[in-house]
Amino acid sequence: MDEDSRIAAVDEVPTDTTLLFTVREGFDEEEALLVRDDGEVRAWKNYCQHWTDVRLDKGDGASMRNGELVCGKHGALFEADTGRCTHGPCEGAVLDEVEVTVEDGAVYLVDDRYEFVQQGSNVEYDLSSNRSLGFE
Ligand code: FES
Repeated sequence: MDEDSRIAAVDEVPTDTTLLFTVREGFDEEEALLVRDDGEVRAWKNYCQHWTDVRLDKGDGASMRNGELVCGKHGALFEADTGRCTHGPCEGAVLDEVEVTVEDGAVYLVDDRYEFVQQGSNVEYDLSSNRSLGFE
């Protein structure tokens, strides 16, 4: 597996919250999050399906409750393993998945659309409006 696509050791991915990372698609950098539930690691884009400018993980881990990610804005719940919203204003919607795989105790990005940039955020936010300033 290509070391440039190594996101984190599986043990670095918390079981009670999420691990934020940054990917690049062309010239755009975007956030995604790793979530570990029942030993499975998955990655989702870091935005709610209700208002897509609302981040689930604001840099210090998203809230999780009984295996579901919680959007702090209006309380939508998303299953950690399927990304499906089970409750809230976007019920039935599904988080955008980023493909990852686990090999030899580490999580790797295997999604052809993206390159791994770094753990944490590389995206600048205007915190007064909660919107990304973007790099376009
Ligand atoms: S923005 Fe996430 S539930 Fe409304």
